[in-house]
Amino acid sequence: MTTRITIRKPDDWHLHVRDGAMLKAVMPFTARQFGRAILMPNLVPPVVTTKDAIAYRERVMAALPAGSTFKPLMTCYLTDETDPDDVEHGFKEGVFTAVKLYPAHATTYSAAGVTDHRKIMPVLERMEKIGMPFLMHGEDVDPEVDIFDREAMFIERYLSKWTRQFPALRFTLEHLSSKEGADFVRSTAPQVGGTITPYHLVLTRTDWLGWGLKPYMYCMPVIKTAKDRAALRKAATSGEACYFLGTDSAPHPVAKKLSVNGIPGVFNAPVAIETYAKVFEEEGALDKLEDFASVNGPRHYRLSVNETTITLEKSPWTPPQEIKVEGPDEKALIYRGGETIEWKVVSS
Ligand code: NCD
Ligand code: ZN
Repeated sequence: MTTRITIRKPDDWHLHVRDGAMLKAVMPFTARQFGRAILMPNLVPPVVTTKDAIAYRERVMAALPAGSTFKPLMTCYLTDETDPDDVEHGFKEGVFTAVKLYPAHATTYSAAGVTDHRKIMPVLERMEKIGMPFLMHGEDVDPEVDIFDREAMFIERYLSKWTRQFPALRFTLEHLSSKEGADFVRSTAPQVGGTITPYHLVLTRTDWLGWGLKPYMYCMPVIKTAKDRAALRKAATSGEACYFLGTDSAPHPVAKKLSVNGIPGVFNAPVAIETYAKVFEEEGALDKLEDFASVNGPRHYRLSVNETTITLEKSPWTPPQEIKVEGPDEKALIYRGGETIEWKVVSS
């Protein structure tokens, strides 16, 4: 039995670190185990221009522990009004790594997102031309569409058309949650890649809703069936280049999670690589963890892989249930907080 594993340092290709006191409280957890992370722009207000991203990057750098070599990769929040010239400028200046689509009202802090897909065509054309990646919250929020079908319907109505319309544009379907999503990525690779969260690999909707409502398992896209989870586990552990790590770690103040109108998002950064290691071990695929966590992502984004390494050991430990956050945010619930975590990062 393998009890120790060393891999190239992983990167997180989908992460929320927020701002202010929450940013300061959560940033060290990611910086501890990841070399780089694509930072989501759904702040309030969102990161919509190159100027916004430069300012946000400075706040992120200021929140890093002393001596950290972690590198934040910034994204542009796409709106109906996004200016293709500013997107190109931000990309060429090395500020923006990618553009992120939130369909309006699809998820947390997406109210400023895209309301009419026709309006974003000039931005996609420009991104295709300059070789800039396009990240998508791939859900169709038409009220006629059942919440469990949102991902499949987004693919059918939008993404399957865009991949033909923009053959040179590189897409990432974020936080894959369904068999349809995993299959679509495989069938369109390498044009389309997909990130997979630790919790979509572990949970089913029965875990979330079957024995009491577990608010810390509520996320968008929502957790689906055991069949979907099996497809995602197979995809992640296959080593195929189109699937890579994206935690979607999304901290929220406890009061916003435990509320009559609870907010979606799972804060998993404190146990991220440890949880992926558990899944890969269960699937007999620890030898594929490095591809998924550290190699496939950089290849998709045409970046070099990290040269340093991280070592994990089978050594049980228990994270706290929540972390303290200064000011009005007070505390944030940790995914798997209070549980026994099998793997531990022993050097990074
Ligand atoms: C994310 C958040 O809280 O910002 N929430 C979530 O449920 N995943 C937004 C997102 O990625 O959808
Ligand atoms: Zn997210």
